[in-house]
Amino acid sequence: MTHITFANGDKMPMLGLGTWKSEKGKVFEAVKTAIKIGYRHVDCAPIYGNEQEIGEAIKACIEEGVVRREDLWITSKLWNDSHRKEDVVPAVKNTLKDLSLDYVDLFLIHWPVALKKGVYLATSAADFLSLAEIPLEDTWRGMEEVVHNGLAKHIGVSNFGKANLSKLMGTSTIKPEMNQVETHPYFQQNDLLDFCGENGIPLTAYSPLGSSDRPSALKADNEPNLLEDKVIRSIAESKNAAPAQILISWSLHRGVSVIPKSTNDQRIRENFEARNIQLNSEEMEMISNLEKGRRYLSGEFWVFENGPYQLKDIWA
Ligand SMILES: NC(=O)c1ccc[n+]([C@@H]2O[C@H](COP(=O)([O-])OP(=O)(O)OC[C@H]3O[C@@H](n4cnc5c(N)ncnc54)[C@H](OP(=O)(O)O)[C@@H]3O)[C@@H](O)[C@H]2O)c1
Repeated sequence: MTHITFANGDKMPMLGLGTWKSEKGKVFEAVKTAIKIGYRHVDCAPIYGNEQEIGEAIKACIEEGVVRREDLWITSKLWNDSHRKEDVVPAVKNTLKDLSLDYVDLFLIHWPVALKKGVYLATSAADFLSLAEIPLEDTWRGMEEVVHNGLAKHIGVSNFGKANLSKLMGTSTIKPEMNQVETHPYFQQNDLLDFCGENGIPLTAYSPLGSSDRPSALKADNEPNLLEDKVIRSIAESKNAAPAQILISWSLHRGVSVIPKSTNDQRIRENFEARNIQLNSEEMEMISNLEKGRRYLSGEFWVFENGPYQLKDIWA
């Protein structure tokens, strides 16, 4: 499977380019290289601070005749400070301006966590709004307006567990069409994958390579390194492949879209070539046995003393 097909027939390429931490000054070339070698899916978000430069790269590729807009799949996300229903359409308009686009293919609620307007990253409990103050269902009404206004073709969520997803599925006129979450061999999320499968919601895997370039404040001590895993390395060696390619291929074999980030020309190519790697059922099982229940992005940065969010609610 190379695409995820949505109910209206639209097709999202399962392998895309991630852009969190892709630095200004580098991301332009990264996106251009990616599109030139065949990527048609780019994952963006305003909080990554680089949508303008990504927009310039997309524009350059279209102007040079490398690709047509309709052949690209561009995803962006609603930041946590714009969860009020009336803030959602203005937020997507800002993103579209930065990306120099008329519409995004997919727009996601980035986190089931609300911040006060203008707060980008929380530094105290006072920065938050609780879900009682802004229920996710209200934010979703704003997301539906984004589709009705033609500003996004599809809408979905990110970092949602079953309970938060169920809130939206019960009340919405447009069902969430995507859940983007952390998943890789050390954190497989099989339960969520099954639940989403039963409800016709595909998953996209973020941090599929272990996100080793995260700021150190977001890292735990002695984190296991996915790319150094013995089983992953031995399967890679047996196929004359790179460990990253095995991780990407594993996700594709599970039917989970995957968006590895790179700004390195060679690794952008290497990751794209992972589409051609076949894993047999024995290799898939060896990788499935690596489960450690280990998130790299713990979500603890949303938890403050006397704040309205606890990890159990965020991941519910
Ligand atoms: N929705 C959310 O809340 C959320 C959260 C996290 C991430 N995301 C999305 O998912 C994307 C991917 O996740 P991520 O950025 O956290 O981490 P990732 O893709 O798991 O890992 C990125 C790291 O792997 C390196 N890398 C890339 N290809 C490699 C290869 N072939 N061999 C060895 N190392 C390689 C990159 O370095 P180089 O750049 O130097 O190659 C970078 O250090 C993000 O960029 C973002 O678009 C979404």
